[in-house]
Amino acid sequence: MTLKKNIVLIGFMGTGKTVTGKVLARRLKRPFVELDREIVKRAGKSIPQIFADDGEPHFRKLESREARRAARRRGIVVSTGGGIVLKGANVRALRKNGILVYLTASPETIFRRTAGNRGRPLLRENPFQNIKKLLKFRRPLYRRAADITVGTNGLTDVQTAEIILKRLKKWE
Ligand code: S3P
Repeated sequence: MTLKKNIVLIGFMGTGKTVTGKVLARRLKRPFVELDREIVKRAGKSIPQIFADDGEPHFRKLESREARRAARRRGIVVSTGGGIVLKGANVRALRKNGILVYLTASPETIFRRTAGNRGRPLLRENPFQNIKKLLKFRRPLYRRAADITVGTNGLTDVQTAEIILKRLKKWE
């Protein structure tokens, strides 16, 4: 692929941004950068720990910093955290040299994929209610940011990656 723009996966928790991003990176022979992982590495603690010790606003600052860092690079595949669209500046930075691919899934699919995982502080209590509430608020933000939208219900990460690769051909 001649395309030098970054490929940036956005979407709600449990839509498969990380697994799909890894497949895409492998297929495209590009480096893979997961913003959440970069945050954890630099902070030296887990996401739940950052939320507990420093609060969500601090987490959002760290997230913006990593988004800016990733946006300065070229030719990478980036997977973002579900809240990346909460700040317009994050989206603007990532768009500058990136194609934003929005992965969607139904609340039921998201619930199923995230159940039992303790790593997401926003889904600790009443996860299904919270998924629906957060989705309602964020959906317009994801939609506005997206260059490409791909539904992932019932698809494997490999199938999702293949759809994305086809859709990216238009951008070459
Ligand atoms: C969040 C999503 C998480 C992580 C943090 C907050 C969110 O990433 O950044 O728990 O606000 O949607 P994933 O989308 O990779 O689960």
